[in-house]
Amino acid sequence: MIYLDNAATSWPKPPQVIQAMADFLRRGCANPGRGAHIMARQADEAVLNTRELLAKLFNIPDPMRISFMPNATMALNMAIHGVVQAGFKVVATMMEHNSVLRPLKTLEKAGIIQLELIKPERLGEISIQSIRKEVDNTKDLFCMTLSSNVTGSIMPVAEAGRHCRANGVIFLVDASQGAGVIPLDCESMCIDLLAFSGHKDLLGPQGTGGLYVRDGIKIKPLVQGGTGSYSERLTQPEIFPDSLESGTLNVPGIVGLGKGIQFILDTGISNIRARKQQYMKILFENLEKESRIKIYSPHPEENSGILSFDIERLDSSEAGYLLDKKFGICSRSGLHCSPLAHRSLNTHEKGLIRLSPGYFNEEIDIDLAVKAIQGIVRGLD
Ligand SMILES: Cc1ncc(COP(=O)(O)O)c(C=O)c1O
Repeated sequence: MIYLDNAATSWPKPPQVIQAMADFLRRGCANPGRGAHIMARQADEAVLNTRELLAKLFNIPDPMRISFMPNATMALNMAIHGVVQAGFKVVATMMEHNSVLRPLKTLEKAGIIQLELIKPERLGEISIQSIRKEVDNTKDLFCMTLSSNVTGSIMPVAEAGRHCRANGVIFLVDASQGAGVIPLDCESMCIDLLAFSGHKDLLGPQGTGGLYVRDGIKIKPLVQGGTGSYSERLTQPEIFPDSLESGTLNVPGIVGLGKGIQFILDTGISNIRARKQQYMKILFENLEKESRIKIYSPHPEENSGILSFDIERLDSSEAGYLLDKKFGICSRSGLHCSPLAHRSLNTHEKGLIRLSPGYFNEEIDIDLAVKAIQGIVRGLD
């Protein structure tokens, strides 16, 4: 089996991730912040350790401004519903995932916000010129993905962040695709809110993710409940991370995520990117030669690690089925939870086949995938 679906969730995980999670569950997995005993304190320390590693990876000045959540979807909902006020003028892009578009569209339909969406260029790129044009000082919030989950295009986050800061616009970045592969610096990129998935390129397990909120950004929690702090009060604590972190945390998952981030820091983000780029290059060079294949992703230098394509006269789901059943290759096909991205690329009817190699693939996996795709294409003659 060859796994090329790392944009959905990364696999395999570094062995340290699995080992640390198993050790933690075996040795004692108490509830952090819910007791003063030794095991609860150890759980507290384990959670703090992952917060600190995230802060290091994303250059976040205060790790306590990072709240853990089960996934990026919860983090994005928490960010959007938490900062939006009635009458807000919000700008997003057509390349956003449904975890951004659906909460925004819900608020727009309810008459709470006005929403504008920026159109992408040919391969899903969002130009800084179009951001400068749409995001002026009358706007309140700008939401943008770090990289597209449909095409892999990397967005101009640093320029957008500086533009937002200069115009007093809150800047929310969805880092689900790209965090762990593309360097992120929340301070120099002027990021106010950063939502991340723990289970993609951060190499943690499913059930992990979170939200960073810059000091000074006003946010209301979407969920209230037990935090282990201020237990005498009937109202939600305002301190971070507790304010956004009600309920028992996924501590084994957070421990695993910490090991995933440690692996990235030890390996070096540039080495991880270089390996992915090398695989992307092989895919591009070979698939570009096929006259029946149309590629919808930018070249490796502008791409976080996704190659999406269409095969003439073959439905993307059928191609995905053949890759799986005949060649044991795991890809993603159809529509990829970003309906407006597909509309802009005009791929909303057939969908796209998406290959997303990971750091743990080997060159032979990529060569075999190329051969399998060439075999499918030639079989159409
Ligand atoms: C760009 C983007 N945003 C958000 C999400 C949602 O992430 P999660 O599955 O962690 O909720 C995804 C997942 O594929 C994504 O690709």
